[in-house]
Amino acid sequence: MLTINGKEVEFREGATVLEVARDNGIYIPSLCAHKELFPFGACRLCLVKIEHMRGFPPACTTPAAEGMKVITEDTELHNLRKNVLELILSEHPNSCLMCDQKELCAKYYICPPKSGRATGCTFCPARDRCELRKVTEYLGLKEIRIPFKYKDLPMEREDPFFDRDYNLCILCGRCVRVCQEVRGIGAIAFTKRGHDTKIGTAFGKSYLDGGCRFCGACVDVCPTGALSARGSKWHGLPEREVTTTCALCSVGCRLKLEAKWEKVMAARPDEEGPANHGQACVKGRFCIPALVNDAERLKYPLIRKEGRLVPAGWEEAAELVAKRLGRYSPKEVGFVASPFLTNEAAYLLQKFARIGTGTNNIDIASAFSGPVIDAHVRCLGVGAGTGTIEDIESAEWIIILGADILTSHPVLTVSINKARRQGATVCLIGPENDIILRMVDNLFPVQPAAYLPLLSGILKVLVDKDAFDKDFVSSRCNGFESLKRSLLSIDLEEIIEPCGLSVDRVEELVSQILKSKRGCILYGSKILESSNPQQVISLLFNILLLRGSHLGLIPLRIAGNEQGAGDMGALPNFLPGYRDFSDKDAVSELEGAWSAKLPTEPGVSYSEMIRAASKGTLKALYITSGWIPDKTHLSQVDFIVLHGIYPSPLFEIADVVFPSVAFTEENGTITSLERRVQCIAAAVRPVGMALPDWKIICLIAEKMKLAGFAFTSAEEVFDEICRVNSLISGHGIWSLIPSAKFALTPLEELTWKESDIISKEISLYPLYYRGIDITEKVHDLKLVYERVLGG
Ligand code: SF4
Ligand code: SF4
Ligand code: SF4
Ligand code: SF4
Ligand code: FES
Repeated sequence: MLTINGKEVEFREGATVLEVARDNGIYIPSLCAHKELFPFGACRLCLVKIEHMRGFPPACTTPAAEGMKVITEDTELHNLRKNVLELILSEHPNSCLMCDQKELCAKYYICPPKSGRATGCTFCPARDRCELRKVTEYLGLKEIRIPFKYKDLPMEREDPFFDRDYNLCILCGRCVRVCQEVRGIGAIAFTKRGHDTKIGTAFGKSYLDGGCRFCGACVDVCPTGALSARGSKWHGLPEREVTTTCALCSVGCRLKLEAKWEKVMAARPDEEGPANHGQACVKGRFCIPALVNDAERLKYPLIRKEGRLVPAGWEEAAELVAKRLGRYSPKEVGFVASPFLTNEAAYLLQKFARIGTGTNNIDIASAFSGPVIDAHVRCLGVGAGTGTIEDIESAEWIIILGADILTSHPVLTVSINKARRQGATVCLIGPENDIILRMVDNLFPVQPAAYLPLLSGILKVLVDKDAFDKDFVSSRCNGFESLKRSLLSIDLEEIIEPCGLSVDRVEELVSQILKSKRGCILYGSKILESSNPQQVISLLFNILLLRGSHLGLIPLRIAGNEQGAGDMGALPNFLPGYRDFSDKDAVSELEGAWSAKLPTEPGVSYSEMIRAASKGTLKALYITSGWIPDKTHLSQVDFIVLHGIYPSPLFEIADVVFPSVAFTEENGTITSLERRVQCIAAAVRPVGMALPDWKIICLIAEKMKLAGFAFTSAEEVFDEICRVNSLISGHGIWSLIPSAKFALTPLEELTWKESDIISKEISLYPLYYRGIDITEKVHDLKLVYERVLGG
């Protein structure tokens, strides 16, 4: 307990006086402090009086202590702060701040500020959120007695995405600290000294060359207009702001979309986002408007007539598809589920494939998905990871295998960086070109071919040294003896040294793993370049199990709803909820719920569908985008239906093209890599005649006179999912949608718990190692499965 302005307040251990005041609704002017950053004490605005302390300590750097008596406001403090502010404003364009007509002028702020260089608030991109203005207004400063000196620094616009006008910079250091402390990048710093101090990159390089990832975190914490997002600064205030989930990758960042004139103008990370806590990446922060407002967006259905795709109405196009699909036998049809479909669309697509065309030929358009699902189902019974972002943040050791995470899942690096700041050791197993090195303690720069031998080596050391959790293994896992036998025949040096590593390095890594059960393993799509991806995943899981926990394995699924598409049953070998076709109860439950017979013939995977298409045995293909096949493989396919939001190379051979909405134009749910089911919410109207994918499927089903597709909203589809899919059932997360509020199913209900696993057998899998494979021996021969550009 301490006292602020005579009022007794509670405080949490480690909080500063400023934090305690904020927690209790007491305002203390501040500019350099930020809740995500360490105290800095640069601006001197938060000065307070504390009994028995000399002078005026800054509230932001003074730890709260029991019995402390703090005064935050009196005439002396007020005048002191005014003096400090005068000094700050003596080098900051202040005419608008001091103008006695500023309230009148503010009425016209409705017009966007169209000025290259801000010489006052009226022309400043930050005028609606500027913290410096807020502090000036609070202190009631009317005049600056110190002569104003304009810094006259050049505008910096050579880098993409945001402009920098350091004439507005007050050197609070928030940008430098967020880049270093939160993002772990350290692309910028204070440069020069004294009066010439400025923010910049080392050696005056461009931000691009200085290692900046354009995540926008510095822009978001800047309290002034010094840093501004280029794409949105000229649009003025948005008409509305809609909270949604970013669907561009599987992290599941919550964003606030700013909409105006039925266009998405900007996207900002939501500080309350459970996966991202106010962080985003270049894609989510800056690229969404360009992606969804593209003039090339498909606006109406197209059907092929006399060799050309020509515009058509929805009725005509849907009828054509219904008629043509009815001509093929179940074996001749295939459905490709985009990993960007919502849960509702993925669910309806597989339902339509199964009861509309009688086929199980449906799979996710992702090379990574199959091995992940197969390996996880084999180990756990469900095709999902066992770790959460919270697990990453609280881990004591982290292994990242086969992923350029800074490019593929940039916001996860914030969690990794946080764990590292708290003492976690981070080990990266992957090719040397991974650029996360600033956050890595232990690097194993090996090619994917070495993943199997390296992981086998780790397991062998764990077993040989008897350094595994015997209680957990004997009580919770099966297959230990066969794993042990499979490791017996391995000679550690023989398998490790050809990878360019030493046994000592492997033992060093094992000693880190042995320090704690609280470990996390993240693996990415580079495992596809190893000889046996499924086995790599099983071995990773084995490492966690031998350490005594099933938690912490996270597949870095690439697309926004790759997890959800699998959960919804858009798979050739599983029904919704990963229920097997051999499970008679599952089949009869689903047949009852759908009032239809399910096909019994197993389906084929995406790659098998493409093989069958190139041989001419697959006659009709229904593709909902994602990782689309090369059109040369589809020349023999008789009938191709395509959903999409942009033109695609498949236009040359598609027979019908349906325009889908972008994720900014529809309501629905997607499931993140940590199995968090989150809502996406429409911020703007669909472009042209575009429809949500689930509606397109319903339209075709209606033309085929199929029962069970008369849905009028995504909410209704989700209700049915809850009824038939035990993975999701019982989560009424839609109840808040009509009020446009983002609703989240509690994480603990959607991630692995002890109780989930108790009834299941966890399998340790033996090793099948046949020596180092060809990709390790033939250099410069590389099959690359993931994006290598962008970030
Ligand atoms: S940074 Fe703030 S105080 Fe400065 S010109 Fe812009 S709105 Fe005004
Ligand atoms: S955009 Fe991100 S990486 Fe670049 S300087 Fe700002 S915080 Fe650092
Ligand atoms: S650019 Fe903005 S955040 Fe960075 S020091 Fe200047 S005012 Fe502070
Ligand atoms: S990390 Fe992924 S989910 Fe988050 S903003 Fe970037 S693309 Fe979107
Ligand atoms: S907020 Fe305390 S010194 Fe700046």
